[in-house]
Amino acid sequence: GDIFSTAIEATEVPLGHVKKVMHEGSEVAIYNVEGCFYATQDQCTHGLASLSDGFLIGEFIECPLHQGMFDVRTGEATAAPCDISLKTYKTSLKDGVIFLARS
Ligand code: FES
Repeated sequence: GDIFSTAIEATEVPLGHVKKVMHEGSEVAIYNVEGCFYATQDQCTHGLASLSDGFLIGEFIECPLHQGMFDVRTGEATAAPCDISLKTYKTSLKDGVIFLARS
């Protein structure tokens, strides 16, 4: 199966928040949607913006630069000007620690 590596304590990503971590040399955004953790690439696919500086609205992250949106569960671009999906990472929660799958 997948090999997971440690990312972050779950308490560092409160309900409804997003936090940027470094994962094997890449910037990854981790989202807490009603207690479920999701992870995507941190950089918007439309430009040089960090999604962890954006706004998490339910399961959607709004980019802080041009207000495009993505579904954090799938990485799918859901609002213009974004039309390229985000890379996603599998997450796993164990003993209060969020693990990310190797890319
Ligand atoms: Fe994210 Fe333009 S950089 S919507």
